[in-house]
Amino acid sequence: QSYRVAILGATGAVGTELLALLEERNFPLSELKLLASPRSAGKKLKFKGEELTIEAVSESAFEGMDFVLASAGGSTSKAWADAIVKAGAVMVDNSSAFRMDPQVPLVVPEVNPAAAQNHQGIIANPNCTTILMCVALQPLHDIQPIRRIVVSTYQSASGAGARAMEEVKQQTQAILNGETPPTESFPYPLAFNLFPHNTTINDQGYCEEEMKMVNETRKIMSVPDLKVTATCIRVPVLRAHAESINLEFDQPFDLAAARQAIAKAPGAELLEDWEKNYFPMPIDASGKDDVLVGRIRQDISNPNGLELWLCGDQIRKGAALNAVQIAELVAQNNWLERPAASA
Ligand code: A2P
Repeated sequence: QSYRVAILGATGAVGTELLALLEERNFPLSELKLLASPRSAGKKLKFKGEELTIEAVSESAFEGMDFVLASAGGSTSKAWADAIVKAGAVMVDNSSAFRMDPQVPLVVPEVNPAAAQNHQGIIANPNCTTILMCVALQPLHDIQPIRRIVVSTYQSASGAGARAMEEVKQQTQAILNGETPPTESFPYPLAFNLFPHNTTINDQGYCEEEMKMVNETRKIMSVPDLKVTATCIRVPVLRAHAESINLEFDQPFDLAAARQAIAKAPGAELLEDWEKNYFPMPIDASGKDDVLVGRIRQDISNPNGLELWLCGDQIRKGAALNAVQIAELVAQNNWLERPAASA
C-alpha cells in the first residue's frame, strides 16, 4: 500500500528534513505535495532526483491526502487543522498547538506507540528536548519507576528554525569581523553566548519550553504526577541538543543495568569512553537518528539518584524523524481511520 502525503512547511529546517527522511526511509508514497507560505509558491525542491514545485497552502491542497506532516509553526497548524481533518487526512503536527489536548495523542514511537491508534485526525509530535529525554528515560523507567527528573538543556539554534541557524553563522562572522551581530531570530546574540530559552515565563518563573518538558513528559510516559523540573538554555550549536539529567528512584539503580538498558533501547545508543573522557557531543549526534547517551553515573549526593548526559539531533529525532516514524507507525498498523470520530 502507498500513501498520499503533504508536507506543510516544506521549506523550513524541519520541512526539508521531512523530505529527506521520506526519501531515505523509502516511505511508501503515491503522491507527495510540498506546501508552504505564498512566499515560497513556485519554488522547487528535489525529491528522489525529481524537482517538486512548492504550492501555497490552501484548503483544497489537503483533499485526498492520507497524511499531512505539518511543521510551519503553531498558528499555521491551528489555522489549517480543521481543513486537514475534514479532508480525512491524519495530521502529524510538529507544533505545540495540540500537544496537551486530551483528544490528541502525543507520541514517541519508542515510548508510547499504542497511543497513536486513538487519534481523531491529529497526532502531535512532542517538543524536541522532551522526545530526546523520553527515548533515554523510558528504558530505565521500565526497570524501576522514575520518581523525579531534574534536567538542564543545552539547545541548538535549529530549534528556532532555518533562519535562526543562518543567523548564528552570520553572528559568528560579524563578531569575528568586529561588527555588531544581526539579532532577528533571538532577543540576544547567540554566537559566543548563551541564554535561557526565550519563551514566555509563567508566574512560577518557568518558561514555556521548560513547562513543555514537564507536561509533555508526564503525558508521553503516562505518569501524570511525575516530578519534573527543567532549565532550558539556548547555546550556539547549530543542530543537536544536549541535556544533563538527574534522576531519582525509590532505590539505588544498578549502573550496569542502566547501561545495558540504554544500550539495548530502540532509538538510543550508549556512547561513553571513560578513559578518554569522551561522551556524546552535538557533532556526534548531528545527522544521526539515535539519541546518544553517556556519563551514566551514580549521583554522589543521593543513593537513589542517577546522572546521565545525552545528545540528539534536534531536527531528526527531535522533530522530523519522530514525525515520519509516527506516520510509519500509523501506516503499518492501518490506524488511518478514526475510531472515535466514526462512533
Ligand atoms: P516559507 O518558507 O514559505 O515562509 P522554519 O521552522 O525553518 O522557520 O520554517 C517554517 C516553515 O513554515 C517554512 O516552510 C515556512 O514557509 C512555513 N510557514 C511559515 N508561515 C506560514 C504560513 N502562514 N503558511 C504556510 N506556511 C508557513
